[in-house]
Amino acid sequence: MNRNANELAYSAQQIDVDDDLDDIVAGLERDQKMISPKYFYDERGSQLFDEITRLPEYYPTATEIGIMEDNIADIADLIGERASLIEFGAGSSIKIRILLEHLKSLAAYVPVDISDEHLLAAADGLRKDYPHIEILPIAADFTQPFDLPTPSVMPLRNIVYFPGSTIGNFTPEGALELLKVMYHEAKEDGALLIGVDLQKDVRILERAYNDSKGVTAAFNLNMLRHLNRDYGADFDLDAFRHRAVYNSVDGRIELYLDSTAEQTVHMAGSTIRIAEGEAILTEYSHKYTLQSFAELAAKAGFEVRQVWMDAERLFSVQYCVRV
Ligand code: AVI
Repeated sequence: MNRNANELAYSAQQIDVDDDLDDIVAGLERDQKMISPKYFYDERGSQLFDEITRLPEYYPTATEIGIMEDNIADIADLIGERASLIEFGAGSSIKIRILLEHLKSLAAYVPVDISDEHLLAAADGLRKDYPHIEILPIAADFTQPFDLPTPSVMPLRNIVYFPGSTIGNFTPEGALELLKVMYHEAKEDGALLIGVDLQKDVRILERAYNDSKGVTAAFNLNMLRHLNRDYGADFDLDAFRHRAVYNSVDGRIELYLDSTAEQTVHMAGSTIRIAEGEAILTEYSHKYTLQSFAELAAKAGFEVRQVWMDAERLFSVQYCVRV
């Protein structure tokens, strides 16, 4: 099979707009109205998220990059030679480049992403800079098991890479299911390298999600613009306010869009009534302790072998092996 930038090794799971519409309307008809965070990421949403990662208040990105840079020799030693690096989510970021530069004789780099456009663009960029590495992109929904390609060089082990603490955007049940898929894709002797954001002073957390420039607010509100444009909804963006709060019982930041007026929204033939002050939940961002993440990983069959952190213990990068 010829696998180049324009030809994906495995076919994309089609994004079905009708399923999405049902899903969005069902979420808005619940007692606690909610919209999945996956609707953040249209083109503008992805740009705004990039901007968030450069904000001084949003510590996770810079902290994780620092941890990777400071510990890359140890990380490379643990991963060893001829690994196949499977990234859940397409990697155009600085973090994947740190790994591609330092890992010893990588067998292949396999980015997996639901959006084939984003995936192929990211793979093309990386191929230019790392022509000696075989890059085999897969368009798939990585929350479900998928088939891995066969690299030309036989890998000694699979390393699943999941940076950014995106694991925190899943509910505990969803995170466990995802870790089980990672366990499956890591195969025997495989491991998981994962970025996990940690519990900390509430003020630091709430500042990271209520930044002074209002970029996170724009990111949250952009979800409604996305639904208006691509799903025929008629949300009035001026009638919602961004809010992010830390729920210390469940150890998570919660993002809401609060309605500032009593209003009616139409979508897919449904009429949704929203009261003044009513909130739409748009995201969870769970923060773990070292212990709570180790317990979760253990339920999926992983043992945490090594944890790297910054001096302030804001964020962790963890190497988990299959047991
Ligand atoms: C993508 N994810 C890890 C981000 C987070 O911190 O949970 C998404 C985000 N939402 C608001 N700011 C950043």
